[in-house]
Amino acid sequence: MCGIVGYVGNKQALSVVVEGLRRLEYRGYDSAGVAVVNNKKLDVRKKAGKLTNLETLLGNDPLPDSTIAIGHTRWATHGIPNDANAHPHTDVSNEIAVIHNGIIENFSELRAELQKAGVKLSSDTDTEVVAHLLNFEYPKSNNDLAESMRRVVRKLRGAFTLVAVHAQQPDVVVGARRNSPLVVGRGNGENFLASDVAAFISHTKNAIELGQDQVVELRHDKVTITDFEGKPAVTKEFVVDWDAKAAEKGGFDLFMLKEIFEQPKAVAETLVGRLSENGKLVLEEMTLSIGEIANIEKIVFVACGTAFHSGMIGKYAMERWSRIPCEVELASEFRYRDPILNQRTLVVAISQSGETMDTLMAIRHAKSQGARVLAICNTQGATIPRESDAVLYTRGGPEIAVASTKAFLTQVVAVELLSLYFAELRLDKPTTEIKQVMNELANISHQIDVVLDTTDAVKELAKKYMNAQSVLFIGRHVGFPVALEGALKLKELAYMHAEGFAAGELKHGPIALIEDGIPVVVIVPSVRLEKELHEKVVSNIQEVRARGARTILIVEEGDDSIIEFADHIIRIPQTSSLLQPLVATVPLQVFSCALATLKGHDVDQPRNLAKSVTVE
Ligand code: G6P
Repeated sequence: MCGIVGYVGNKQALSVVVEGLRRLEYRGYDSAGVAVVNNKKLDVRKKAGKLTNLETLLGNDPLPDSTIAIGHTRWATHGIPNDANAHPHTDVSNEIAVIHNGIIENFSELRAELQKAGVKLSSDTDTEVVAHLLNFEYPKSNNDLAESMRRVVRKLRGAFTLVAVHAQQPDVVVGARRNSPLVVGRGNGENFLASDVAAFISHTKNAIELGQDQVVELRHDKVTITDFEGKPAVTKEFVVDWDAKAAEKGGFDLFMLKEIFEQPKAVAETLVGRLSENGKLVLEEMTLSIGEIANIEKIVFVACGTAFHSGMIGKYAMERWSRIPCEVELASEFRYRDPILNQRTLVVAISQSGETMDTLMAIRHAKSQGARVLAICNTQGATIPRESDAVLYTRGGPEIAVASTKAFLTQVVAVELLSLYFAELRLDKPTTEIKQVMNELANISHQIDVVLDTTDAVKELAKKYMNAQSVLFIGRHVGFPVALEGALKLKELAYMHAEGFAAGELKHGPIALIEDGIPVVVIVPSVRLEKELHEKVVSNIQEVRARGARTILIVEEGDDSIIEFADHIIRIPQTSSLLQPLVATVPLQVFSCALATLKGHDVDQPRNLAKSVTVE
């Protein structure tokens, strides 16, 4: 939610920052803006809409050369997405520029105080108050921008990443962080600040995680980090293991399509090195001790959006394998219902970005109640893994398209691995049984590749249903979260009414939605392995067909019993039941992507959405 980039060094700062913004645009695209300092003068350009609008403005009204710049892409919270509310915001002297991600909760009070002091505000944002406050504090701090920032942030409540420059400090970018992400990139004679490493990996892979409540002063040759009081802070350096190329489209028209096609690799990477030679599972970074794992009485998966659906699959897998009772909860609901947690509860937070505020708040609540927290995360250095007791990294690489695809599949792999690991340690499961699933998992990348061969057929199908008013998705067992995920993708991308249901629930209400011609996508369980479930789903298919629905069936190879009930069939390879989501979700991703493309929507940046939601 909002992308932030700061740069000071030896290059043309503006191009570095605009390039960084392009990589961060997935975080918000309501407006974009930049500020540079040249000859002790501050210059700002900003524009509502996507980054290209700003680039056009920069073409018509160029900025002077500079080696220092900050830039921002916005996902609007306070104030509509217009030019005035775009960041950077400046103070009355027009010497200070500020960009911000998050929400300053006490901004109304601060705004009122500033107005009382005669300051005329020129936007509706909470951010602008920071620019004016910095202006007040600057002389009191001996013209030290970092010290001014420390003084200001001590007055703020809420979640924020703030980055500022001052016209009189042509070699200083200052950043502050509370509850919103900010990472430092260390270069040679140049340094970077960004919401996400993607913004600077083409320049440097050396990064520093900024901790909670820290202020950083960036110069071209020096990085100084303190807490909000000014005491030197403890920080952690790391090397980014993503390739810069991974954050580019690589020949595809869309990031989403590229990421769909990267799924075999992402899944394979997440599995690398997980099985030792003696057939034992290895989850290196998962630092919970055997004693701690033995102690677990209950597991609660918490997550949002697509990650929530992988949590649902996690519950099925965990209970099946480890026999530990599980719950799955939307992170945004979790802490507000006063859940029963104790030292014997393990909360598993699933998050691609590792920054989702709802999930972060859920784990903080869990920790305050004494629960242990394990993060399943795709992003190194992110807040959620940092604040968790243990972490299991998915290795999907950067996911840029707003709608999650490869991250979902790798999360499913992670919950399967975790379930097997706990089963091995707690139940002493025979290694042969675990090995069998691991062997199957080892082949799953190939099977996803096979599903990807159906892409053209799925695109053709999308053409047929382009004008559908509504699409329903149904499934049972792990087919249910897949149905939810299929419907979510369609809503996010094609802006179509779509619902996912547990197929058995149809008769308890949703069947009333069935009318002539409505497409119903059915995730059919394996006839080989789940005969009883399969029969039930066949009954559900007949129920909707009898009422005029058109059925699109996602069915495993070799199941011919289903042909007579299908208007359309999409074949998926045979897998064991718990692994079926890894293949069944893929055609649904392609379907939504194709429909959105046909409708002329911006697939990578759907309206109103942001990839990383860092507000509650
Ligand atoms: C946003 C994104 C979704 C994502 C969800 C959770 O809503 O648009 O695609 O599933 O956040 O994100 P996380 O980074 O926590 O997995």
